[in-house]
Amino acid sequence: NAEIQLIGSSEIVRKLREEVKVIGATDVTVLIEGETGVGKEVAARAIHAHSQRAERPFIAINCAAIPRALFESELFGHKKGAFTGADSDQPGKFRLAHGGTLFLDEVGEIPREIQSKLLRVLEEKTFYPLGSNTLVHVDVRIICATNADLSKLVEEGKFRRDLYFRLNVYTLKIPPLRERPEDILSLTKYFIKMYNLKFSKSVRSLTPEAKALLLELPWKGNIRELRNTIERAVLFAKGKQIRKEDLAFVEAHQPVRRPASVFELPEEGIDLEELEKNLIKQALEMAKYNKTRAARLLNISPPTLYYRLQKYGL
Ligand SMILES: Nc1ncnc2c1ncn2[C@@H]1O[C@H](COP(=O)(O)OP(=O)(O)OP(=O)(O)O)[C@@H](O)[C@H]1O
Ligand SMILES: [Mg+2]
Repeated sequence: NAEIQLIGSSEIVRKLREEVKVIGATDVTVLIEGETGVGKEVAARAIHAHSQRAERPFIAINCAAIPRALFESELFGHKKGAFTGADSDQPGKFRLAHGGTLFLDEVGEIPREIQSKLLRVLEEKTFYPLGSNTLVHVDVRIICATNADLSKLVEEGKFRRDLYFRLNVYTLKIPPLRERPEDILSLTKYFIKMYNLKFSKSVRSLTPEAKALLLELPWKGNIRELRNTIERAVLFAKGKQIRKEDLAFVEAHQPVRRPASVFELPEEGIDLEELEKNLIKQALEMAKYNKTRAARLLNISPPTLYYRLQKYGL
């Protein structure tokens, strides 16, 4: 099952799969850290699938998507009539996850006042739904995820330190895709198969240029971005190979050299030599005083750069 399988051939993912098995067998609270799209939810589902709770529900909740006023009810439920608009009983995610796992995504977004209540529930395993005086007991394993630095939010006073320690019993760190190039290739293979099936295509491989491009890109959106990229490339591929051109839309996201015309002349005019001197200085700094690279940044030849450096006494 793809949803619970961590695809990848890097040492990093191999270790992650081991970690997931080991912590799956326990009941510890896990905090999963990683950039957007690295597979935090996939890892959470994998931990659940390896646990004794596997046959019980896995309930995911995105803390960034819940309006503040509805937060408490969303987690702990409410009785009909508990507030305006509460026209039926709601169980809340904690009760839905009973016996299973509750996945709190973007946990750093939980409002302060809910953080206190959550801490209490985690410690006592009991709570009162809104408008109810019947104590509810739950048995729930908590897995959280964050792409923000939670320890920094603690330092800034935005996240309760005691809750942080309660949630962060075990930290699972998932590194960004660009730090594990082997996985770019194994995931690409996997996604090609998947989208061949979906679109009835028969893509077999990538041209060397296309492969090189995939390995060069920064993948800020990580595996989600790679998946979308391969989906489009398979859909538009003409033959059995994905070519660099099929990935052209990804290149479009890369920084391009800005035309010099962005410098607009102000009405009062400028001192052209002063501006040139200033830009040369900036280029040198940017290139860490490597003159060949500085010349390239200015789109002039190295001899031209040397000449100007002498002219301006730089
Ligand atoms: N190891 C993996 N193998 C296969 N598919 C993966 C893997 N990791 C992630 N994916 C796919 O990448 C996409 C993003 O994964 P997921 O939603 O778990 O990321 P996330 O870290 O929770 O992202 P966000 O921070 O944006 O919530 C999903 O489509 C998922 O199926
Ligand atoms: Mg997620």
